[in-house]
Amino acid sequence: MNVAFIGLGIMGSRMAKNLLYADHHLVVYNRTKHKAESIIEQGAIWADTPKEAVKERDVVITMLSTPQVVHKLAVGKEGFLPHMPKNSVWIDCSTVDPALSRLMATRAEPHRVRFIDAPVAGSKEPAEQGNLVFLAGGDKGDVEAVKPLFEAMGKAVVHIGECGMGTSMKMVVNSLLAQSMMAFTEACKLGKTLGIDEEQLFDTLLGGPVAAPFIRSKRSHLAKQLDDTEFPLQWMLKDLHLVSKTAYESGVAMPQMQIVKELFTLANASGWGEKDFSSIYHFMNELGNNSKQSL
Ligand SMILES: NC(=O)c1ccc[n+]([C@@H]2O[C@H](COP(=O)([O-])OP(=O)(O)OC[C@H]3O[C@@H](n4cnc5c(N)ncnc54)[C@H](OP(=O)(O)O)[C@@H]3O)[C@@H](O)[C@H]2O)c1
Repeated sequence: MNVAFIGLGIMGSRMAKNLLYADHHLVVYNRTKHKAESIIEQGAIWADTPKEAVKERDVVITMLSTPQVVHKLAVGKEGFLPHMPKNSVWIDCSTVDPALSRLMATRAEPHRVRFIDAPVAGSKEPAEQGNLVFLAGGDKGDVEAVKPLFEAMGKAVVHIGECGMGTSMKMVVNSLLAQSMMAFTEACKLGKTLGIDEEQLFDTLLGGPVAAPFIRSKRSHLAKQLDDTEFPLQWMLKDLHLVSKTAYESGVAMPQMQIVKELFTLANASGWGEKDFSSIYHFMNELGNNSKQSL
């Protein structure tokens, strides 16, 4: 297919390469051009602006940081949406809130652009290996029509429902992801303070049913602070903010999630934003002085 890919960050750069490897014709745009160098060497064509990138493309894929950035690049002053051909498809893979996805679908309609929100489950390594799971919201026929692209970048695409339902599911998933990591962190902090060896804590918790399975893949990040960021903490905080906004708009109370969000806010404000989100474990270990209460 004839595809434009906008946003070549940690995830986008890897997803776009898998499209190239599957022989799709690719035009790319990224705010910071040097991040596109290796993909251009491999055959992608560079566009100087998002609106240049989308001209005459069948499909546009965006993988951007925040709802504000998606809004700006699509429908801002120099936005790409009015320049997309009629009957083309825009797949937004960014993690944004369902309200933004529904707004983008509404804005796409007068241009006869078919919108799909398709945020991903999976991080840097699954993106590299083409093992992502896409959570799709939009017309089922549209999702089917672009399935070869999902298949090039991932191992599954799940059609959740109409526009906004893919990002609705993503809100649910990431709220649980952050809370599970925090629950693990807190339990380990108690364990270590009680004198249990960290290795033994990891072996016991990660070998049994009580910890969330994804935490096993974070073991090396928890054992040692690594520079290898898979999912930046600042984007997990952004996601918790979006969960909070979405819950407010839906009248749902999520008191536990709010506490976790505030702890991520503290970590971000303390300079941990560009580290992997699992670094919340190290931040929390540094927080407080563990002094025992005298009984
Ligand atoms: N990393 C993960 O494990 C993971 C997993 C699932 C979902 N996600 C979601 O996927 C999205 C991308 O994540 P990522 O990890 O790839 O993040 P990232 O490496 O920080 O990439 C963010 C992308 O957005 C672009 N961008 C940011 N601000 C911009 C602006 N003002 N104008 C134009 N472009 C701008 C960046 O351009 P520059 O290169 O110029 O900065 C980059 O292309 C996020 O919504 C994230 O929540 C991430």
